[in-house]
Amino acid sequence: MNLALVNVKGGVGKTTTAVNLAVSFASSGLRTLIIDLDPQCSTSCALGIEDHEPNVADVVMRRRDLKDSLQPTSSENLSILRGSLELAGADLELSRRKAPVQTVRDALKPVRRRFDMVVIDSPPGLSLYSLMALDAAGAYVVPTVPHPLAADALDQFFSGLESVSSRLGKKPTLLGILLTMVDHRTKLTDELVKVTRRKYGRSVMRTEIPLNVQLAVASGRGRSIFNHESWSTGGAAYRRLGGEVLRRARKEGLL
Ligand SMILES: Nc1ncnc2c1ncn2[C@@H]1O[C@H](COP(=O)(O)OP(=O)(O)OP(=O)(O)O)[C@@H](O)[C@H]1O
Ligand SMILES: [Mg+2]
Repeated sequence: MNLALVNVKGGVGKTTTAVNLAVSFASSGLRTLIIDLDPQCSTSCALGIEDHEPNVADVVMRRRDLKDSLQPTSSENLSILRGSLELAGADLELSRRKAPVQTVRDALKPVRRRFDMVVIDSPPGLSLYSLMALDAAGAYVVPTVPHPLAADALDQFFSGLESVSSRLGKKPTLLGILLTMVDHRTKLTDELVKVTRRKYGRSVMRTEIPLNVQLAVASGRGRSIFNHESWSTGGAAYRRLGGEVLRRARKEGLL
């Protein structure tokens, strides 16, 4: 299964979720690839991967095959197509090319049998790279935070997706909206979590990711939560999320 992490809003836990989900899949024995499609390269940093070539820019610029651009990570069963700052300035040129949105889907075809899971992190927004991620993925997860502005951004995301859907090969499946950085000590959080669950119903993942500083510390050290404080509240939540994502994917016939 190919899974994209997307939202128009920044700083909502897309990268943290991409990294920790990918490591949880890999540690359960699934052959996993993580693709860093964000010019910020945070996924690569969070996995301790240095900024070198080959990288994702080589693949989206069609200079190199994806299979020759992958790196191992310190986690068994997990490979990465690392990010590139070059993406920041490449979107204008790419968008002039033929079928730019399909680039990642096409690049993945030859390695289809090599991986059980492909996790694709994308930048905030619904620009070219997020569309590439959605087009390459059969499924997507939308991380969000319990904050009034994030609730507005969630609405914007779904209406934005509707208006760009004609640019995608086929409609990807929403596996779930994921509440992250949840701090139930505040009343406002409780209220916003309730409102989100009421509004989006079963589309909201049962698992919530708590606000847990160890998740930030781990990524600063270039490690997943499982290689840092595996039994922290963040680690336990991402372990549960891995299970829920797989259950939802099976239910949708994606696995
Ligand atoms: N559950 C959490 N508890 C505490 N800190 C978190 C949690 N999840 C993420 N963070 C921290 O919050 C910041 C934003 O998270 P992250 O980078 O995953 O968001 P993002 O949606 O990928 O951001 P961007 O849109 O910039 O790519 C990071 O510093 C990260 O370490
Ligand atoms: Mg990110």
